Amino acid sequence: MSGDPIPMTDAAATPPATSAAGPATGQGSAAGPVVRIQGVDKTFSRGGRVVTKALEAIDLDVAQGEFISLIGPSGCGKSTLLRIVGDLTSPSAGTVNVNGKTAQQARRDRDYGMVFQAPVLFDWRTVEDNVKLPLEILGWDGPRRTARAREMLELVELSDFLQHHPYQLSGGMQQRVAIARALAFAPAILLMDEPFGALDEMTRERMNSEVLRIWQQTGTTILFVTHSIPEAVFLSSRVVVMSARPGRITRIVDVDLSQPRTEDTRESRRYFELVTEVREALRAGGDDLDDAGTVNGTASFGRTTVEGAAG
Ligand SMILES: Nc1ncnc2c1ncn2[C@@H]1O[C@H](COP(=O)(O)OP(=O)(O)O)[C@@H](O)[C@H]1O
Ligand SMILES: [Mg+2]
Repeated sequence: MSGDPIPMTDAAATPPATSAAGPATGQGSAAGPVVRIQGVDKTFSRGGRVVTKALEAIDLDVAQGEFISLIGPSGCGKSTLLRIVGDLTSPSAGTVNVNGKTAQQARRDRDYGMVFQAPVLFDWRTVEDNVKLPLEILGWDGPRRTARAREMLELVELSDFLQHHPYQLSGGMQQRVAIARALAFAPAILLMDEPFGALDEMTRERMNSEVLRIWQQTGTTILFVTHSIPEAVFLSSRVVVMSARPGRITRIVDVDLSQPRTEDTRESRRYFELVTEVREALRAGGDDLDDAGTVNGTASFGRTTVEGAAG
């Protein structure tokens, strides 16, 4: 969408710098976690004065192929944590290792694909050309770019829309283009920040199934931020529950629902139990999702704009 704030979401379109496009699996040290977060704090300061303590003492290991959701009240630092992992901002204390490297090195090595709430697509480019963009800057030759873009668009079931422009697509379709683009260079880790937050409930559920299917086909590791308890439970292998500011991890819920997850999953008793468990963990963390619609006076859907200014 041409009117979207570019800065924050720009990372989604950042071209990969290497030509690595092998399978998303098998990266990093054999047995070590893909992402290791240790003792991470984040404070935002203005004029040398601490304005916001956003994150406190975050420790988290993410194994190869996991699907991790971060959930917590608005403003608890979910996006900040994802941005720290993706090296879009640095922690005030603590370390992040990705595939045994610093986050900065991992970003240089294009270990990340990123998808944000507003898909930043270029309206003057066709769907196919949007997906090709990172590959273009990578220096892939024409036929290889075309083959890869088409393969990715088939994966998100948009083969019939190659020559359309983004403004001709629904919100859900646009988000699928953004996902196809993020996956085009086979990143080891997919960072997704409320990618379906702006979609209606039905579309969101379909997108959930879609992202699970892609996750299973590609074997990529996913870190997914969401406001939605059902979404977190449906998608994840583990749900990381965060408290209100300063964001701390208060609970990690193992989601032992069988794979693949289907519409029946949403009606299973275990699913309801887990949804309740996550909801209670959120309450115990001192806030309720419904109480926290705004951050610093900015409606949560507008937060990409706030984050766009983030250093
Ligand atoms: N660049 C920034 N400058 C100052 N404060 C920020 C910045 N980015 C985020 N914050 C603050 O840090 C806290 C966590 O924000 P965020 O990570 O966006 O929360 P969430 O994604 O969980 O809603 C909020 O209080 C927010 O206002
Ligand atoms: Mg956020």
